[in-house]
Amino acid sequence: MNILLLGSGGREHALAWKLAASPLTDRLVCAPGNAGIAREAECVALDIADHAAVIAFCRANRIDFVVVGPEAPLVAGIVDDLEAAGFKTFGPSKLAARLEGSKGFTKDLCRTANIPTAAYERFTSAEPAKTYVRRQGMPIVIKADGLAAGKGVIIPQTLAEAEAAIDMMFEGGLGAAGAEVVVEEFMVGEEASFFALCDGETASPLASAQDHKRVGDGDMGPNTGGMGAYSPAPVMTAEITARTMAEIIVPTLRAMKAMGAPYKGVLFAGLMITKDGPKLIEYNARFGDPETQVLMLRLMSDLLPALIASRDGQLKSFDLRWYPDSALTVVMAANGYPGEYKRGSVIGGLDAAAEIEGVEIFHAGTKADGNKILANGGRVLNVSALAKTVTEAQARAYLAIDRIEWPEGFCRRDIGWQAVKREKSGG
Ligand code: AMP
Ligand code: GLY
Repeated sequence: MNILLLGSGGREHALAWKLAASPLTDRLVCAPGNAGIAREAECVALDIADHAAVIAFCRANRIDFVVVGPEAPLVAGIVDDLEAAGFKTFGPSKLAARLEGSKGFTKDLCRTANIPTAAYERFTSAEPAKTYVRRQGMPIVIKADGLAAGKGVIIPQTLAEAEAAIDMMFEGGLGAAGAEVVVEEFMVGEEASFFALCDGETASPLASAQDHKRVGDGDMGPNTGGMGAYSPAPVMTAEITARTMAEIIVPTLRAMKAMGAPYKGVLFAGLMITKDGPKLIEYNARFGDPETQVLMLRLMSDLLPALIASRDGQLKSFDLRWYPDSALTVVMAANGYPGEYKRGSVIGGLDAAAEIEGVEIFHAGTKADGNKILANGGRVLNVSALAKTVTEAQARAYLAIDRIEWPEGFCRRDIGWQAVKREKSGG
């Protein structure tokens, strides 16, 4: 088959790595890709926001199956457009992608379907939102309704900060994403990322992971797109996983189908495991980044037939196999990230790093210049490792990182610390 993968991050490199290994793949093309993906696939400079250009490329290149990585094209309806043009595509329709594209939509769905989540209200202007915040008191969470590239959630320290966040959103600080605001209860617990593959009818649990969103060691400093992750998440016991499926994922699928927007693709639930059980923080309509890097390392089965079964509504009799091992990934980012950073510095030592047993390096913001690999983004590399324990996977990843020569970059030195602590204390 001829496969087209859309995207250019570490998530897409991990997907490309698995798709390239499938015996069903004849040709793998990635748009736009990066320097690491270029080792697994042909990279083409297509603007994936231009759906007509993507369709024309599929026609000209006899593409049999399209896999969409990031959320923006999904929310913009690229799956609907490709399918209407006759191209089989993995991912949710525009209506189904509202689970990520509108937090208000998802909260209302939770209310109707009785799915455990934080108590909330939706607002379209500042004054009623502020009145609600004052009535609820602190702590509280303020969220922009739409896609805001990770900047749409504010957890204020004071009432004044809460009111300022509401004003910022309604004054257009996050563009159209902030035209509506959700104010919700602050939940206490341990977070986990949970992934299920869906075909509109059936949900098949994939695996769990935990990511580290803060830029600094000890989970300090500003939020980022994710500085590292590991899988499985120890907090996702068999019992919590079963409850997540029964109380959150399955009712969501049923509700989406009932409203005529059946959900196909990967459903990524951001969960808070509270003392009362799992509660939904938010949904994403795609694979996680950097969670996919650890999921793909642990996936034993061929990924491609699973994605096709999701698209074709054939997941019912599908079984995916996973290595019982732990996977861990450490993100290397350009100095300054998540603030301002420079592009174009040279990264050395990648081949020596990749020689370490169990290690795979997935690229995010990189580009090739002859034989050189240059940094070309904020999050640049995902140094990933598979091993029997998280402790060992962590040791392997950092051993690899110590072979990478890139003074213009940095990483956290404590990715996986909660799981390592659990392993050291014997469970
Ligand atoms: P994201 O939407 O991925 O930028 O991340 C939002 C982050 O904010 C989550 O990962 C949580 O850490 C936190 N968060 C969001 N909603 C809540 C909530 N209701 N209670 C507590 N923490 C929250
Ligand atoms: N790692 C969180 C995300 O992909 O949104």
